[in-house]
Amino acid sequence: MCGVVGYTGTRQASEWLLDALQTLEYRGYDSAGVQVVSPSGNLHGVKCAGRVAHLRERASVANLNGTCGIGHTRWATHGAPTDRNAHPHLDCRGRIAIVHNGIIENYQQLKRQLMMSGHTFSSDTDSEVVAHLIEDAWAGPASGNLALAVRNACDRLEGSWALAVVCADAPGTLVVTRNGSPLVVASTEDGAYVASDVMPLASVTSRVVQLQDRDVATLSPDGSIAISDRDGRVVEHPTAITIDWDASAATLGGYSDFMAKEITEQPEAIERLLSGRLGEHGIELDELTLTKAELASVRHVVIIACGTSYHAGLAAKSAIERWARVPVSVEYASEFNYDEEYIVDDNTMCVIITQSGETADTLTAARRMKGMGCNVFAITNVLGSTAARESDGTLYVQAGPEVAVASTKAYTAQMVASYLLALRLALAKGCMTREEVVKHFHDLERIPDLMREVLKRRWQDKQAVRFFRNKTSSLYLGRNVNSATAFEGALKLKEISYLHAEAYPAGEMKHGPIALIEGGFPVVVVVPADHVHDKTVSNIQECLARGAAVIAVATDGDERVAKLCSEVLWVPRCPNELIVPAVSVLHLQMLARYVARDRGYDVDKPRNLAKSVTVE
Ligand code: G6P
Repeated sequence: MCGVVGYTGTRQASEWLLDALQTLEYRGYDSAGVQVVSPSGNLHGVKCAGRVAHLRERASVANLNGTCGIGHTRWATHGAPTDRNAHPHLDCRGRIAIVHNGIIENYQQLKRQLMMSGHTFSSDTDSEVVAHLIEDAWAGPASGNLALAVRNACDRLEGSWALAVVCADAPGTLVVTRNGSPLVVASTEDGAYVASDVMPLASVTSRVVQLQDRDVATLSPDGSIAISDRDGRVVEHPTAITIDWDASAATLGGYSDFMAKEITEQPEAIERLLSGRLGEHGIELDELTLTKAELASVRHVVIIACGTSYHAGLAAKSAIERWARVPVSVEYASEFNYDEEYIVDDNTMCVIITQSGETADTLTAARRMKGMGCNVFAITNVLGSTAARESDGTLYVQAGPEVAVASTKAYTAQMVASYLLALRLALAKGCMTREEVVKHFHDLERIPDLMREVLKRRWQDKQAVRFFRNKTSSLYLGRNVNSATAFEGALKLKEISYLHAEAYPAGEMKHGPIALIEGGFPVVVVVPADHVHDKTVSNIQECLARGAAVIAVATDGDERVAKLCSEVLWVPRCPNELIVPAVSVLHLQMLARYVARDRGYDVDKPRNLAKSVTVE
């Protein structure tokens, strides 16, 4: 969702800005733009609806000479995704340019006031008010001080923002600030940089500073960055974090798309996650800030997440309840935030699962949980993300950058990370001996090889694509922990192939979705060798009796399923039922990708979706 970038220094700004916007494409967007301050002290820019490649074409024939500038990828919230609504936005005189990520909630009121005092607007966005507010501040007491003008303007805003601002009358100065939306800055020998996340910065430095809410930073061409906090006090030594992703981690490296690359990277991601986690006393999870006694007293775990991370939460529920015998509730963050009567007590632990660590709904939920006195533990993939900084403890899943909008490797890594938490809780609560924990841990260690085996069988997924041709809908079924697999498989298909997919717990199908089934209707059934196998096989029979085209995800050697279903995606035998979701979902990820490609879609950048949803 909206990407903000900015640079001031010695190189041509537009070169890095365009590259950086390309790197931020994965966040999801529908238009893009850049603006630079020219050596003669004027603003020059281009912006347009569509892809960064299109912007690049326009930039190549525009005069974008200048060493200070800002850029933006926009995911429309207020105003259609058109050229005129694309950022940057300018003030009335065309001397100040801003880019914005977030939502200005009081923009209508501000816009009315600004128009009454003579400002003219050129877009339908909420963001444009910021340029005009800075214009007023610049013309008033903050004249000559861009940072102060930006701070004064922000004092009038309600909502969330990450802002980067340049002014033709302050050449070389780039001012940035944030409230609720992420922003990182970096100082280098060839200048100072800002971006919404660390990805575009990985090519220029490995040290970045995460701005805190309401910090205002002034970036100068010599690379220096002056930060003042919400009270205007100078931040003497901002804490820098080291990016542990090398820039090549976010390149295709020979793959045709990032989704293919990220699906394939799952075994190594799980190996990294598990490495060093088995210690003398069981599972090493120092990230948990709860003492053993506090862990032992946990009586209720509330998991809060969105999208794919929510599905990882469903698998986590099964593991925590089965291994640690603690009841778990899994909540959609957007629902939880408006459930005013939600009940927690002193023994409730909150776990948030968020790949990006920046999902606005999840962050709001975590803050609310903290406000209710709960210890909040974050499972995330992004180092230094807001979720990580604001939680009491953070487990980084270390899946590496995930560029494809549809999450794959972060999903399985989050799931396995939550299993580590489940084992740690089980030990603390005395539900398992250390020996039992060690045995389960060794089972987890088998996941990478089991995944590798499934990856070798991708031809099976390719073959199953024919069942989805010329279809408009499909059904995904699974039971118990594998209802999460069905939900995730259906989400993947919807996200990238735009084919409707309904997911249901298999036994619940007869209470509604069965009405959908007719001759040739595709039904994907996750039916591993587990304690509900017979029940799920009965569901397959119910589907077949109505003419469905069943694609089963089954365990090697399952003769019954082989006889019933003409198409089976085979999964090697797993040492434990709870491991099946982390292994079998790879088939469903690959199936979704093949179906999407068969339909001719870009699997990495599905329409309307954003990787990091930073607005409510
Ligand atoms: C967006 C993405 C999904 C993701 C969800 C939650 O909707 O498109 O892939 O699962 O956000 O994101 P998070 O970063 O909190 O895991």
